[in-house]
Amino acid sequence: MTELQTAKANIGVVGLAVMGSNLARNLASREGNSVAVYNRSPERTELLTSEHPEANFIASTTIDDFVASLTKPRTAIIMVQAGKGTDAVISQLAERFEPGDIIVDGGNALFTDTLRREKDVSAKGIHFVGAGISGGEEGALKGPSIMPGGSAESYKTLGPILSSIAAIAEGEPCVTHVGTDGAGHFVKMIHNGIEYADMQLIAEAYDILRHAGGFTPAEIADIFTEWNKGELESFLIEITAEILKQVDAKTGKPFVDVVLDQAGSKGTGVWTVQTALNLGTPVSGIAEAVFARSLSSQAEQRSGAGNLAAATKQWPIEDRAAFVEDVRRALYASKIVAYAQGFDAIRAGAAEYNWNIDLGAVSKIWRGGCIIRAQFLNRIADAYATNPNLLSLLFDGYFVEAVTRSVDAWRSVVAHSALAGIPVPAFGSSLSYYDGLRSPRLPAALVQGQRDFFGAHTYKRVDLPGTFHTLWSGDRTEVEAEPSTH
Ligand code: 6PG
Repeated sequence: MTELQTAKANIGVVGLAVMGSNLARNLASREGNSVAVYNRSPERTELLTSEHPEANFIASTTIDDFVASLTKPRTAIIMVQAGKGTDAVISQLAERFEPGDIIVDGGNALFTDTLRREKDVSAKGIHFVGAGISGGEEGALKGPSIMPGGSAESYKTLGPILSSIAAIAEGEPCVTHVGTDGAGHFVKMIHNGIEYADMQLIAEAYDILRHAGGFTPAEIADIFTEWNKGELESFLIEITAEILKQVDAKTGKPFVDVVLDQAGSKGTGVWTVQTALNLGTPVSGIAEAVFARSLSSQAEQRSGAGNLAAATKQWPIEDRAAFVEDVRRALYASKIVAYAQGFDAIRAGAAEYNWNIDLGAVSKIWRGGCIIRAQFLNRIADAYATNPNLLSLLFDGYFVEAVTRSVDAWRSVVAHSALAGIPVPAFGSSLSYYDGLRSPRLPAALVQGQRDFFGAHTYKRVDLPGTFHTLWSGDRTEVEAEPSTH
């Protein structure tokens, strides 16, 4: 240990790429924190400490020195890329930490990895906290939204530290103890799934305004800026307006026209959908957003599809202002569905993994700092304050009214998009979900009949208790049956 390291830190950060460095700087800028830093390659550590002497970092070049530089209970936040690197750092720390110390994984880890890691680490008496951190590089530096899981005991130490660096919304820090073990990473995963849906919905609104409405990107930027003053106010709408205003310096064309139209992803959207499939929770808006990115990236297939029949109808637009307002309403209604589905997935995850997750608290910590921050989250917080056991956000009075007000516009936008050949997978699936949810009878009854016909999968009746099977290949009488297990 160097001389400097006789000083001790109440919190440490391992992994000093941009997110880690920014988080460390954020921690160091808050009263009462003294921050230890460590990175596998010491060059990064040197860069950070030399560029930010004001942070008074306690820097180490070895993991032993790093651990020794922490006060007890030792608390270290790992900010390395999710995956094997995380496991390696966890085992280095777990070998050196003592019972009561706290290891925090601040990366975008898959919650099932967090469940496994928490089990392993807590067997040694060390706390392991998977903490979702949202807000990108700027959020990490200036105030992210933080979703920690792990034990309630670890939160006693961690809570004040995380509160000191989190974004503030309506006077409250955007951090809460989400639930035990993997709950924090689960909720962060759903946050990202909602982020995918929100982005796709905004992109569909843009596409309609551009290709049916004939607006230029700059005009659409103005429309979004206007929308950002109302119920759609959000970070994503705000940055979309900025992006649409951008002009490419090389060509003088709108930036959006020179970017390859193939959207990438790092996996959290896919995880959300995979998890929701396992939980049996329809997150169709999120799924369509993930698939829309996949379709966009099928370059070869898309380039071979040029001869497929196009739409033969135009979208008749008589009143452009009314058209824009219809698109806005369709966007808002679809967005409500996307969030309702995301919160459903959290409820289902909580039931499956025995987490006690306060959905109202989650909506509050998403009001600031994170990518999906929006005015709208106040309405969600109000909904859960009125009824913490709300079965669907769509049933809350405010949302019932908001969707009712928008539903005709929503239907018209989806129908006209179909006629005009504009792909609206997220708008369309959100509307179908809504109609599916409110339908008193679904054609699922027919599907049950089909399953029983070809596989004797049995069915239940609306008018009698018990389980039944029809002898389809015999005389077609109905018999009572054991519930099918296949
Ligand atoms: C955040 C973001 C952040 C992110 C993801 C998603 O909350 O700060 O969600 O985690 O941008 O990496 O990125 P992809 O679109 O690449 O999956």
